Amino acid sequence: RLKKESDIDGIRKACKLVIETLSLVESIIKPGLVTDDINTLVHDFTIKNHATPAPLNYRGFPKSVCVSINEVICHGIPGDYALKDGDIVNVDVTSILDGYYADANQTFFVGTPAPDAKKIVDVARESLRQGLSMVKPGNTVGDIGWAIQNYAEKEGCSVVREFVGHGVGFEFHEPPQIPHFGRKGDGIELIPGMVFTIEPMINLGGHMLRVLRDKWTAVTRDASLSAQFEQTIHVTDDGYDSLTPYEL
Ligand code: MF3
Ligand code: CO
Ligand code: CO
Repeated sequence: RLKKESDIDGIRKACKLVIETLSLVESIIKPGLVTDDINTLVHDFTIKNHATPAPLNYRGFPKSVCVSINEVICHGIPGDYALKDGDIVNVDVTSILDGYYADANQTFFVGTPAPDAKKIVDVARESLRQGLSMVKPGNTVGDIGWAIQNYAEKEGCSVVREFVGHGVGFEFHEPPQIPHFGRKGDGIELIPGMVFTIEPMINLGGHMLRVLRDKWTAVTRDASLSAQFEQTIHVTDDGYDSLTPYEL
C-alpha cells in the first residue's frame, strides 16, 4: 500500500520519536548498564510520548525493544546481562504513534572498541549507506540488495539472508521484502510513496545463523561479530527521504 502525504506526516512523527529514543539510549550506554534497563528506558519513554512499543507481545516477543550484543545478529531479548567494555550493542526500536509504525536501529560501542568491533560496525554502517544510495524511482529492490552485498563481501564480511528489510507504516512488517543481497535489476520497481526499511545485518565471518532456545535470539553460527543499522525511508519523486535520519 502506497502512502499518501498525510500518511507520511504521521509516519514521520512516529519516526521522530524513534530517533529521539535511540539518542536517549545512546546517552546512557556504558559498561555496567544492564540490558533490561535499556528496555525500561525505551518502554517508559515511548509510553510517556503517547506511543506504543511495537515489539512487546509481537508474535510472543516478551520485551519492548530488541538489544543484540556482539555475535547476536538481531532479536536479542533484554535481560540481566551487564554491558562490558569493548561490547557492541544494537538497539532496535519500533514505535506506534497515532496508528503509524516507525522502525530504526543503531549499533553502539560500549567503551573502547577492539579493531574487529570497529571493522564490523563501520562495514554495517556503510552497507546501509550503499543500500540507500540505490533508492530512487525506476531502480529495483534487487539494486539495493546488490549494492549492499557487493560492498560487504568486498570488505570480507557476509550478509545475513534470513532477515530482510520490509515495508512499514500501517503495520510492523508489510510487503515488499527488501533483501540485503541480490542481483541488479531483480525484484519490483521502486515507486514514489513506498515506505520501507533497509536494515542490513553484516557478519565478520560467515552468513549462517542459529536461533537460541528462547526462539528469538539469532546468533552467528561461527560466533563472529555481527552489526546492523536500520532506517525507515520514503521513496520520493527523485530519490528518497530518510524518516529516521540519524547520522551515518
Ligand atoms: N525491529 C525488527 C525489524 O527491524 C523486528 C523485531 S520483531 C520483535 O524488523 F518481535 F523482535 F520485536
Ligand atoms: Co525493521
Ligand atoms: Co527494527
